[in-house]
Amino acid sequence: MREYDISVIKGDGIGPEIVREAVKVLETAGKKFGFHLDLTDIYLGGASIDKFGVPLTEETVETAKKSDAVLMGSIGGDAKTSPWYRLEPSKRPEAGLLGIRKALGLFANLRPAWLYDELKSACPLKEEAADKGFDLLIMRELTGGLYFGKRQTLVQDGQLVATDTLTYSESEIRRIAVKAFDIARKRRNKVTLVDKANVLDSSRLWRKVTSEVAEGYPDVTYSWMLVDNCAMQLVRDPSQFDVVLTENMFGDILSDEASMITGSIGMLPSASLNETKFGLYEPSHGSAPDIAGKDIANPLATILSAAMLLRYSLDEDEAADAVEEAVRKVLKDGYRTGDIYTEGTTKVGTRQMGDLVAERV
Ligand code: IPM
Ligand code: MG
Repeated sequence: MREYDISVIKGDGIGPEIVREAVKVLETAGKKFGFHLDLTDIYLGGASIDKFGVPLTEETVETAKKSDAVLMGSIGGDAKTSPWYRLEPSKRPEAGLLGIRKALGLFANLRPAWLYDELKSACPLKEEAADKGFDLLIMRELTGGLYFGKRQTLVQDGQLVATDTLTYSESEIRRIAVKAFDIARKRRNKVTLVDKANVLDSSRLWRKVTSEVAEGYPDVTYSWMLVDNCAMQLVRDPSQFDVVLTENMFGDILSDEASMITGSIGMLPSASLNETKFGLYEPSHGSAPDIAGKDIANPLATILSAAMLLRYSLDEDEAADAVEEAVRKVLKDGYRTGDIYTEGTTKVGTRQMGDLVAERV
């Protein structure tokens, strides 16, 4: 029996209920495909603040590092009402998320977005764009740029002045560009670098380094696009994209946009990888505290994240295929959570959706 150590971060809001369903599906896949998962709960974000007073502990980092992969729900609370947001920014839930990404060296964030035939009617795009369908992957740099640059707020000439800095080195760009081109070879051999090279020095460096990397991949079509144009093209004709390579902040924004055109932000998985096979897997959506504990959240993004975990960290490709296929079947059989519900389909809750997928694995 193959054995794997998986760290589990249930997270905040809807996190615990969607992770519970993903674990259910993983364990079912293990029974079917002959592996066993050793699960260890670790804490991050709001749950960690409640337990330890800080959003990320050394113990969480150490346990995560020792495991084969980390499965995570979403973290964070309602910024208006939650006491976590009365803490200074560096002690809030999100700081824990940024901290663990950095501590584990998870520089490559893969956010795939594709349109299921069954969800075409939920796609907010024009019919001709939806009919064409799309299957793209945003490769977001995750440990550099504005998120991790020097920042400060100070008083200058009698008023507050705030500064954030956007810094990238050649090596930071090269390592993710290489990953983007490698992954493009397993998909449709196309990489679009998205930047703001008409304004930013950092973007000009991204173009220079990525163009150098591209020379080593003559079989991959390489082009670049300005980020404002990309935001527009994503809603005009997303079928033109395969791998979209971009820096941290642009990737944050574009990946929310890409998820919405799939019909629901509740459908999109993500993987954050370092140089080895180790990765952290989480849904692209947030913790939706307003619907937490009501058994209405869509667990499919987390279940699909678990499939990515099987594929990228455990090399259990067959099991990953089975999970993805099971999700497709559930949709085909007409089951929907509230966020993707349309007339004529069957509305189910979080737990039942997990059961339905597990049955089909
Ligand atoms: C994401 C989230 C995070 C980010 C927040 C919660 C800090 O929006 O994973 O996309 O901006 O990276
Ligand atoms: Mg985001």
